[in-house]
Amino acid sequence: MEQERQERQIPRHVAIIMDGNGRWAKKRGLPRTMGHAQGARVVEQILEDAKDMGIRYLTVYAFSTENWSRPAAEVKALMNLLRTYMKTSLAKCAKNNVCIRVIGDKSKLDEDLQASIAELEKETADNDGTGFQIAINYGGRDELVRAARRLAAAAAEGTLRPGEISEQSISDALDTAGIPDPDLLIRTCGELRISNFMIWQSAYTEYYFTETAWPDFTRAELERAVEAYQRRERRYGGLVQ
Ligand code: IPE
Ligand code: IPE
Ligand code: MG
Repeated sequence: MEQERQERQIPRHVAIIMDGNGRWAKKRGLPRTMGHAQGARVVEQILEDAKDMGIRYLTVYAFSTENWSRPAAEVKALMNLLRTYMKTSLAKCAKNNVCIRVIGDKSKLDEDLQASIAELEKETADNDGTGFQIAINYGGRDELVRAARRLAAAAAEGTLRPGEISEQSISDALDTAGIPDPDLLIRTCGELRISNFMIWQSAYTEYYFTETAWPDFTRAELERAVEAYQRRERRYGGLVQ
């Protein structure tokens, strides 16, 4: 399977900035929260499609550290959607062998949500199928700050010498420790920016931008992104012979 994936040049890790839920809803005269609800359904479908296509890791950006600045009612609706997701996805993950990890600062989330996340992570930890990362209260800079604190604490304790800090030790102190860097990053709905998503991990990631709003995203669109990825030449600063 691993060899076949490499031969077909299927990206091992795909990350998605799921953008455009609000615009999708507005265009239809619906409240923004309806866009988020539809977006959540699309996540479930795309997770299955990704697995089917041989993608080993899928990461989705669900809520950024900056999204707290939205109106309280929208934040509440998003948190409730995440609550529901954490409660209903356990059975599906068990069936599909999905291993879930939430990245981001979970300590700022409501306690009941933290508890359901912890349960879901624990129950799916041994699943060796698709690795599914959900970014909640996630910001790339915040993740680096928390990693720096962890490393500094180890240095202060005397278990780490500053000169030993390496790219690997920083990667290992991030929320994505143990997960390979994304090969392909997709952003939906037309904005050409990264909005504080996986800034360390995406140093050599290939980007794919589409005008499609997240609630309209389909497997066909994911396949187009993968095809575009397959046409890229990844050089990592070197030369291709
Ligand atoms: C993405 O859709 C979902 C989140 C950021 C939570 P948006 O809510 O950003 O939708 P637009 O960009 O306003 O259309
Ligand atoms: C990025 O989308 C965050 C998520 C998809 C969760 P935003 O809609 O928050 O980003 P900006 O405001 O357009 O940069
Ligand atoms: Mg947006």
